[in-house]
Amino acid sequence: MLIFNQGKYKSLLAAEEGELDTVAALVATDQNFRPDYHLVAPFGLINDPNGLVFDGEKYHIFYQWYPYGAMHGMKHWLHYTTPDFQQFTLADTLIPTEMFESHGCYSGGALPLGDYIAVFYTGNTRRSSDNARIPYQNIAVFRKDGKLLDKYPLVTCAPAGYSEHVRDPKPYFTADGKVRFICGAQRDNLSGTAIVFEMENINTPPQLMGELNLSDFDNRHIFMWECPDLLKIGDKDLFIWSPQGKQREAQQFQNNYHSTYVIGKLNDLQFEVEQFGELDYGFDFYAPQTFAGLDNSESAVMLGWVGLPDLQYPTDEYGWHSTLTLPRRLTLKNNYIYQTPLEQYYPQNLTALSLQQATELADLDRRYLKFNPHNRDFSLRLFDNPQGQHLNLSYENDVFCLDRSASEQTESMLSLGEQRYCAIADLQQVEIFIDRSVIEIFLNGGEKVLTSRFFIKNRQNRLQSSCRLEIESAVLAPIAYLAE
Ligand code: FRU
Repeated sequence: MLIFNQGKYKSLLAAEEGELDTVAALVATDQNFRPDYHLVAPFGLINDPNGLVFDGEKYHIFYQWYPYGAMHGMKHWLHYTTPDFQQFTLADTLIPTEMFESHGCYSGGALPLGDYIAVFYTGNTRRSSDNARIPYQNIAVFRKDGKLLDKYPLVTCAPAGYSEHVRDPKPYFTADGKVRFICGAQRDNLSGTAIVFEMENINTPPQLMGELNLSDFDNRHIFMWECPDLLKIGDKDLFIWSPQGKQREAQQFQNNYHSTYVIGKLNDLQFEVEQFGELDYGFDFYAPQTFAGLDNSESAVMLGWVGLPDLQYPTDEYGWHSTLTLPRRLTLKNNYIYQTPLEQYYPQNLTALSLQQATELADLDRRYLKFNPHNRDFSLRLFDNPQGQHLNLSYENDVFCLDRSASEQTESMLSLGEQRYCAIADLQQVEIFIDRSVIEIFLNGGEKVLTSRFFIKNRQNRLQSSCRLEIESAVLAPIAYLAE
């Protein structure tokens, strides 16, 4: 076992005495922004959800984690198990300790295997002679109770024809019981793609089968595909991934990078695309992944990162960065993906409020709100503080807008614009989950979704609308973190 400790490539095992307590103490000084019912790291930076799998009794959730502060350094996988998405028990962390993961355990997925789960992940390494990045694809075996038993490499370099950017293996079973895993990749000509490996069974060496071929997708400008995920809902195949380099547009693809999906029919490596779309229209959403081990006959369950690469947030100064979304159920309607938080996140006993004037609503920053605008234009102002900061939602000419221009933003946030738009006709339902610095908005029962961070210190829990809105709402209970 090696203890890596080189600049930002520092493992958890190299922590000096009291060092992590100091980061935790800094996090505790944040009085404004720590979410209550979204999964947050105890300290440091979260990015992609990883290794999502239902083991028959409980869900395993891992995420990319850098413990020492709000930056992208040595990546670990922090690991929780939960039977219900209410109580999260800490389990063994995947910590880089071997040469085949010397510069971080990068993203990947997992499969249930009887009493075990097999985690597939990318070992990020740097060759000492010239610092070139060498991507390994590795397996880590965990017991269902969360104990790490073993880890070893499967693939020790990028295949010929591909650059050093090959990562994020997501495994799945084929109809005839073989194991395949799909990796995000960059070709030598610097275009993005995904490649598929096959193993006869979990103990045999992987063979490269080739690229996933999408029948109809405009790959111009796209230099990398990250976090690929192949799944089935009912009799449809889906491919979810995070392409990098797509041109930004006015009412979709508004961020620096995007998360997209296609629906259609997969024949071996040929994907006949029937529908293409963006998964989320908010400011902060990336690298989603769905759970393995569930019966996907009617729906799938997905988590995303409420964040994006290359962004700094106001919470960085408190030693933490980002969260995960609520777990979302994905269903198909008319060949489109609909997303809604899992049923247990919907509070019972909603209170009615007929809103017109500015109104105080206790704990607005931890509330679920629901209303029907009856397809009429409206604007809704949330919060207020002595600096006049607030958040604004509006609907006009069939376009929904989330505006955070009157709230605290970092330079990198500002550089991507202060509004996010989403075209949606016939708006009949708005549902909002607010969690202190996170907002997830579901329109028309999940037809369109906007996920974002927002930063308003010392806020008053005030609401104001441009027209009468009949709002139903309730405060959400915090989730609980249990030690191992
Ligand atoms: C996506 C990503 C993955 C990579 C991981 C590293 O956000 O860049 O491609 O495995 O993050 O943390």
